[in-house]
Amino acid sequence: MGDTVIVDMPNYMQVPGLLKWIGANIMYLWRKPPDWRFPVEKAIELMIRYRPKAIFITDPNNPTGSYMDRNELNELAEESIKTGTLLVFDEVYWGSERGEPKNSVIQVIEGENAVSISGLSKVYGLPGLRIGWIAVKLRKIVDRMLGLKDYTSIAPSILSDYIASKILTQNNVEKLRKRAKEIIEKNIKILKKEFTIRENIIEVYWPLAGAFIWTRIPWTTNTLELTYDLYKRYSILINPGECFEAKGYIRIGIGQKPELFNKNIRYTLNSLEELRKQYAKMKLLD
Ligand SMILES: Cc1ncc(COP(=O)(O)O)c(C=O)c1O
Repeated sequence: MGDTVIVDMPNYMQVPGLLKWIGANIMYLWRKPPDWRFPVEKAIELMIRYRPKAIFITDPNNPTGSYMDRNELNELAEESIKTGTLLVFDEVYWGSERGEPKNSVIQVIEGENAVSISGLSKVYGLPGLRIGWIAVKLRKIVDRMLGLKDYTSIAPSILSDYIASKILTQNNVEKLRKRAKEIIEKNIKILKKEFTIRENIIEVYWPLAGAFIWTRIPWTTNTLELTYDLYKRYSILINPGECFEAKGYIRIGIGQKPELFNKNIRYTLNSLEELRKQYAKMKLLD
């Protein structure tokens, strides 16, 4: 209650929601276009100035797909040790990097002030198992988490537990990461092809990792209305930037099977093009 925390933005909004619920004093730290990298320098400045209790980062980031390199992680880790700030990293998209493999925060930090959260729902393609984990050295946090588990899921289903134990072998982890990367690469290639003939419809920030494309709509900032229209008129469900407190953007999922994605992205872009024409007629363009 009342503790100051820093939250990486834009972000998967569950953590900011929980922090509001428990009455934390939240400081949003916004990433910026065009690369949407985590602003390490700014985070360090805020840590020194406000001595926050924790900093919550999604790395690789949802929705922008950007992730930190080892130097950036080191810089952040060094300062967090000095200021006693707990680094809480959601690393559920770890393993989907398109370039240099990412390091986990707990591989970089020697001390006890880092937490890595992940699970099987994304890169491993097994959301139905409801299996995830928290890696942390600090005993106090382990005990607290075990206590919370008694009030939430209590224990995993025995089937999920069994499947997860088979998945989490070096060989299978690598196989599934490779599978995820192949899907993402294929879908990005498909989007690149479709996109070149429709550059005025969406502005794309090509991701470094993750299962999304973060895009800006150059012709309207009311993306909530736009996604309602996409849903009502074309049965297309897309997250508007408003879900991330970022009006004017939309997040497109690229985790589908490439055959499906090919058809669906063309349909989505065509629908956006039609909507833009209709908005122009109704004088709704920005
Ligand atoms: C960054 C991030 N963390 C956590 C989750 C939740 O994952 P799970 O389904 O394993 O609870 C999501 C789901 O979209 C996510 O994007």
